[in-house]
Amino acid sequence: SKKPVRVAVTGAAGQIGYALLFRIASGEMLGKDQPVILQLLEIPDEKAQKALKGVIMELEDCAFPLLAGVIPTGDPLVAFKDADYALLVGARPRGPGMERADLLAANAQIFTAQGKALDKVASRNVKVLVVGNPANTNAYIAMKSAPSLPRKNFTAMLRLDHNRAASQIAAKTGTAVGDIEKLTVWGNHSPTMYADYRFATVGGKSVKDLINDQVWNAEVFLPTVGKRGAAIIEARGLSSAASAANAAIDHMRDWALGSNGKWVTMGIPSDGQYGIPKDVIFGFPVTTENGEYKLVEGLEIDKFSQERIDKTLKELQDEQAGVAHLL
Ligand code: NAI
Repeated sequence: SKKPVRVAVTGAAGQIGYALLFRIASGEMLGKDQPVILQLLEIPDEKAQKALKGVIMELEDCAFPLLAGVIPTGDPLVAFKDADYALLVGARPRGPGMERADLLAANAQIFTAQGKALDKVASRNVKVLVVGNPANTNAYIAMKSAPSLPRKNFTAMLRLDHNRAASQIAAKTGTAVGDIEKLTVWGNHSPTMYADYRFATVGGKSVKDLINDQVWNAEVFLPTVGKRGAAIIEARGLSSAASAANAAIDHMRDWALGSNGKWVTMGIPSDGQYGIPKDVIFGFPVTTENGEYKLVEGLEIDKFSQERIDKTLKELQDEQAGVAHLL
């Protein structure tokens, strides 16, 4: 049988952690033949560590055959030691009266420390997914704090936005969500993201032609996808967790095992394509194969799309400028 791989998860006792760990341990992320060792980071705080113990008791009680070990810790150097995969979920949420700059600064501190720890102790091939918000900028900070690791190893989660867009399109066109291909979401994981179905197909037909309604695109579809997170908080009283965990599984599974030619959306460091400056962590269409992602290049960007892309890029550049002095 295969040698176990080490999967680090931060914020492991949080909402998303609770929806994520059991699926990783059951083989849904890396395959039903791949044993895993979970290395779980929580803040050193007594209450968080106790809650983490409780989650681990439940993991034990699942008797997952693929779960080869669990290491709970409050120390990033322990959590990331030899990690092959790192899912950075834990982040500082916006508290009452907290300004955007304070939020950026608090998270910059966390992701600088975690980037440095990854740099020091993780596998040189570690695949990093940042889920904790602001996800793109946190991924950028971690990447910049880990100069000895390849830049391409740092990604941010846009997959929830991608899946939300696919689901809205399936509902609008009366088609099966699994049949939708060539969809993407450009930019920041925030309401400025640009979900783009101009190239999408379903059963070989053009989604744009099937919908044929630019007013719906601009006034219904984009706001619905962009504000979906807020709509879920409003309905559930809590932020999306199961769907976020599901998107994290999708992102990592496709990166590790391949997307079979299908386009998926990942937040990845730009190399300058589509006019996005180098190193900005931007949602792009990619295909994945043999553990690597590959940008889908050469897509035409029309005026409407360019305006949307410029807007989400500007927001990301403002976030980057807001943390520049902390790097
Ligand atoms: P939560 O508050 O339930 O859990 C977060 C956990 O992280 C807490 O247990 C906390 O103690 C821990 N934590 C905080 N700082 C940490 C640190 N420095 N090291 C290790 N652990 C730390 O939050 P939830 O619902 O699980 O969400 C986690 C993050 O994911 C939030 O930032 C949220 O905004 C973000 N998110 C991102 C999405 C995306 O699409 N990219 C979608 C949904 C949520």
